[in-house]
Amino acid sequence: MNSHWLAPDMTMSAADYLALLDAALAFKQRYPAQTGAALQGKTIYFLFYNASLRTRSSFQTGLARMGGNAIVLDPHHAIYTPALPEAEIPYTTERIADVARVLSSYGDAIAIRMYGEPAGWVYGAAHRHLEAFARSSRVPVINMECDRFHPCQALADMMTLRERLGDLAGRRLCISWAYSGSWHKPVAVPQSLLLAAAKAGMDITLAHPASFGLDPEVMDRARQVAGQTGARVRVTHDFLDGVNGAQAVYAKSWCCLAHLPTRHGDPVDERAMQRAFERHRDWRVDADVMRLSGTDAGYLHCLPADRGQEVTDEVIDGASSWVFQQAANRLHAQNAVMARLLNPGCLA
Ligand code: CP
Repeated sequence: MNSHWLAPDMTMSAADYLALLDAALAFKQRYPAQTGAALQGKTIYFLFYNASLRTRSSFQTGLARMGGNAIVLDPHHAIYTPALPEAEIPYTTERIADVARVLSSYGDAIAIRMYGEPAGWVYGAAHRHLEAFARSSRVPVINMECDRFHPCQALADMMTLRERLGDLAGRRLCISWAYSGSWHKPVAVPQSLLLAAAKAGMDITLAHPASFGLDPEVMDRARQVAGQTGARVRVTHDFLDGVNGAQAVYAKSWCCLAHLPTRHGDPVDERAMQRAFERHRDWRVDADVMRLSGTDAGYLHCLPADRGQEVTDEVIDGASSWVFQQAANRLHAQNAVMARLLNPGCLA
């Protein structure tokens, strides 16, 4: 396993990833009674450039209950905003390389969330910020969601799927785009999940309107992994075709990459983005849609969900909803990640 946790869905072998998934599920059974000192004396710095409920609360809770210390730093106000050289402003920003060196001389890991506006919505720019931290940090850097990947979410998703479906090889997962009144959501969640599910050999249908395709590099990697694991990756632009027969339906919104700027400082094509969304208001999970999926199929969403837009209350609050188990598993997934990075012996 890499010493950083930046893009494990992309870079870890299927065998290593599935071993970590097993370890996370086992660690969950021991938490908290037998994991009390697993991170004793460890300090992690948390930098959130974007809002968060689950990631922030679950990381802090898990770290505290395993004896560690969380220090949350607001990159916009509490500190000089960490920036790449081309975006530096005197006495307002501080070079990421310097921030990483300083923090890694004090503590044991640096965890960062950054996507969207703080990186000018240029696809990949936020991930490059995390890579810049990693290049200069002597301690592990943890991706808490960037514009390309959300590996903590994907690990929690995979834990939930394993708990619900057992062995995942050949199990039918639909990852679908869904309508939202806001376009401001990165592609990180579907991309990480697609790669993780491919490692587990799942039968994956990726459903989205034609203009909402994912990063071609991620698609290529998913197909390459599928060739090794026996997974199937099928793409459809028909919502109901995607859901039909699925054992798990993971439907959420994401932005259209084609309408994001390619250079820092250029604007998002908001009108084109909004038009693309409004053409597909019917991509919403309701009870009829769930009936098309297999018997006992579950509905998944990383949350926060746009109720009434991505999904109806009836579905998200109903018996087929697995979303709160998913949210609870964020704690356990990240406990395993922190333990693996900072005290791997305790995961054995
Ligand atoms: N799913 C997720 O990452 O939730 P938060 O944005 O609340 O952290």
